[in-house]
Amino acid sequence: MTDYHEPPEELDARARDFHRALTSLKEEIEAVDWYAQRVARATSPELRHVLDHNRREEIEHACMTLEWLRREDPEWDSALRTYLNQKGEIVALESHDADEAPKPDDSGKGLGIGSLRGVTQ
Ligand SMILES: [Fe+2]
Repeated sequence: MTDYHEPPEELDARARDFHRALTSLKEEIEAVDWYAQRVARATSPELRHVLDHNRREEIEHACMTLEWLRREDPEWDSALRTYLNQKGEIVALESHDADEAPKPDDSGKGLGIGSLRGVTQ
């Protein structure tokens, strides 16, 4: 319990679960990197195969944790829907985020923005 930046006892159960998930996500991503480096340097083909298998499993673990975050938090859900599985320039997707979504009284201004998502260039 060393990664807390606030007293854990002052965080509610949801905040502590998010801390668990985010910490796990960091650990899984670190493991992917560590295995990738070991795969790149291992001299034994069999060891390289084992380590690469483990690297792939860590990617799955990271994605499972990311999916939990998406299901539990609308902001993760929104950001992942914005940036994942899109085509074109990644940074250009930023201008289409939820903060700039048209307001109900917007009289239709900007309503076409969402339809531009995923348009191939
Ligand atoms: Fe893992």
